[in-house]
Amino acid sequence: MAAILGRAGTTATGGFRRHHQETSRGGRRRDAVVVAAVTGAAPQEGSLERPAWSGETPVSRLVAALIAFKPLYSLMKLASREVIIRTAEKSNIPWREMTRKVLESDVYEVFERIRDPNIIYPDYYLSPFHAYDEGNLSWLAAAEAEAATLSIAKRAIPEATSIEEANQIVRGNWMNAIEEHHLKYSGENCQINDILDIGCSVGVSTRYLAERFPSAKAVGLDLSPYFLAVAAQKEEQLCRQNPIRWVHANGEATGLPPNSFDVVSLAYVVISIIS
Ligand SMILES: C[S@@+](CC[C@H](N)C(=O)[O-])C[C@H]1O[C@@H](n2cnc3c(N)ncnc32)[C@H](O)[C@@H]1O
Repeated sequence: MAAILGRAGTTATGGFRRHHQETSRGGRRRDAVVVAAVTGAAPQEGSLERPAWSGETPVSRLVAALIAFKPLYSLMKLASREVIIRTAEKSNIPWREMTRKVLESDVYEVFERIRDPNIIYPDYYLSPFHAYDEGNLSWLAAAEAEAATLSIAKRAIPEATSIEEANQIVRGNWMNAIEEHHLKYSGENCQINDILDIGCSVGVSTRYLAERFPSAKAVGLDLSPYFLAVAAQKEEQLCRQNPIRWVHANGEATGLPPNSFDVVSLAYVVISIIS
């Protein structure tokens, strides 16, 4: 499920501009890898305007017409939220409990420390998303993000017997892809010292990276200060040898020094920008 999109210094997707310059003469970063994890079928090339999995069917057209009618959309949103939450809870993800804990914590103080008030959000980021009116710029979206992330893995691997197994498969495949790519292109003697996780959300992917490469310094970067506050607050409780650093920035123009990471990861980011 992990797709290696390109080496650092190449354009990862149409949505992301060049993040690192073609690098360094002889510097270790020349072999930095950019990896992107995607869900579902492999990207299709060819003359299709929309990939087959994007749902251009009569049913999806009917759904699109129904949701264009605002009062009906609000009702459908409530009903589908309820279904999503109950489905997760049936799979032993305590969705409401996890959400409540975040909302009743001191995450609001962390938010004030982490937020960059000068960020200019791209238009797509200011639209409703995943049925949240303020998209990812809301406390509810941030408080529910970890439960939602856990439950997605079960949908990706329906044959898994538990949420834990589904997550181990999904995240394990992605970690293995990073390691294999790194070995292939950088060689055994090249250490992974600095990792950037663009679109880190509430830090699930960043924590996997930090745990797989404990001697590396990991940075989680996201456009949502709400998500980052949740990530940072959890990290503060973990007492890791190399604590993860959280950066509020746009992945398209991070402001981070060029040529400063050995691995740049985008897990489930590109798909959410495209949709
Ligand atoms: C589906 S989540 C990624 C989840 C996470 N990487 C994981 O694997 O659990 C997509 C994330 O990308 C972030 N995002 C979207 N556009 C971005 C941009 N231009 N720069 C930085 N983050 C962005 C969103 O805020 C969201 O947290």
